[in-house]
Amino acid sequence: MSTEEKPAETNTEAPTEDGPVPPKPREMKCIVLTGFGGPKMLRTQQKNQVTAKEGEVLVRVKACGLNFVDLMVRQGIIDHPPKTPVVMGYECSGEVEALGENTSGFKVGDRVIGFCDYGAWSEVVAIPSQYVYKMPDNMSFQDGAALPMSYLSAYIMLFDMGNLRKGQSVLAHSVGGGVGTAVTQLVKLVDDVALFGTASYHKHESIKGNITHLFDRVVDYSQEVRKVSPEGVDIVLDCLCGDDSNKGISLLKPMGKYILYGSSNIVTGDTKSFFSFAKSWWQVDKVSPIKLYDENKVIAGFQLRHLLFKQGQHQYIKEVMGKLFQLYNEHKIRPVIDSAWAFEDVGEAMQKLHDRKNIGKVILDPSLEPKPKPAGQDKVTASFIIHYRMLFNEIK
Ligand SMILES: NC(=O)c1ccc[n+]([C@@H]2O[C@H](COP(=O)([O-])OP(=O)(O)OC[C@H]3O[C@@H](n4cnc5c(N)ncnc54)[C@H](OP(=O)(O)O)[C@@H]3O)[C@@H](O)[C@H]2O)c1
Repeated sequence: MSTEEKPAETNTEAPTEDGPVPPKPREMKCIVLTGFGGPKMLRTQQKNQVTAKEGEVLVRVKACGLNFVDLMVRQGIIDHPPKTPVVMGYECSGEVEALGENTSGFKVGDRVIGFCDYGAWSEVVAIPSQYVYKMPDNMSFQDGAALPMSYLSAYIMLFDMGNLRKGQSVLAHSVGGGVGTAVTQLVKLVDDVALFGTASYHKHESIKGNITHLFDRVVDYSQEVRKVSPEGVDIVLDCLCGDDSNKGISLLKPMGKYILYGSSNIVTGDTKSFFSFAKSWWQVDKVSPIKLYDENKVIAGFQLRHLLFKQGQHQYIKEVMGKLFQLYNEHKIRPVIDSAWAFEDVGEAMQKLHDRKNIGKVILDPSLEPKPKPAGQDKVTASFIIHYRMLFNEIK
């Protein structure tokens, strides 16, 4: 990913007596994480526009996906967190603006979806072509940005890892979220699948039509599942980790598959909590292969970003993306968009996930105007700065 700052090719300044004025770099707005912590660590900044290097596609971004993992990145609680400052974001959609040398398969103006190992939350991004996919003609940019992380994860876990078949049952958590709503749509591709789901109670009215058995996230869902299906379920998709891992594994039927793909339980307050981090990992029971052998159970893990950026599986991902595009064209899947936000409002947008208020995907759109601040907020900030400066000068 090119984050290099390059001078722009255009120069609107008139020459001076000292000779031609050096070209003014073109700028792009992007969302920068300045350090790990609360929402204040997120800043909208102007940077010199990136250019496409060899093998890269330069994309003019129209919409970006905001994922739960972005909240974890902000807090610095993912494995191998990035060095800050860093332009955040893993997924976006937009139009091809330029191609680097030896970049094939795309032309200027193509509507595309791109995966980034950071850097997607920007007006312009340069992405290696193996992580760029041409969008179906009828797909909106918001749908394009909402699709990759959520639907690829849901599809691969259900069909390629989970091998979901007719008449089986699935347990999934946070079924009102980005991945969750993708799961609810994709299980319908197989006949007679019973979907057990957990979600915050206030979402139930909106999502209950898509889930066979929906439980409030705070109830003992193990017990509730057993009431309906005493033998348990065939597939557990676990994005919570901690004690929920143990519950998930024990809920498996013989030949059942448990897939861990997240650790949302680690997130508690605005910043990293060593306590919840340690608690979540400590709570997971050690599972012996001998126990699995005795019980006929499968335990798996899924991590899309590693598959793409560390394990070189971009060809496989491209194939799955093609299947998702076909399902989209057949109207079998449609991303649920919770809301779209200006770059400047990213803190508030992220807070919506943190407060468990989103139903579906939260989108960032660089063309949107920021929300007006509540009246008086600027004055209060200005007077705080003046007082702070006065105090600082007095101390000096
Ligand atoms: N491994 C992978 O490749 C991969 C890819 C994509 C996503 N994921 C994981 O999948 C999960 C869902 O991701 P997403 O992007 O689709 O987000 P999301 O589900 O839209 O995230 C927001 C929702 O998470 C739920 N949640 C669970 N624990 C929470 C906590 N401690 N604090 C706040 N909210 C919590 C809340 O819903 P309820 O209150 O209704 O539960 C909230 O509305 C995350 O764990 C994410 O890391 C993994």
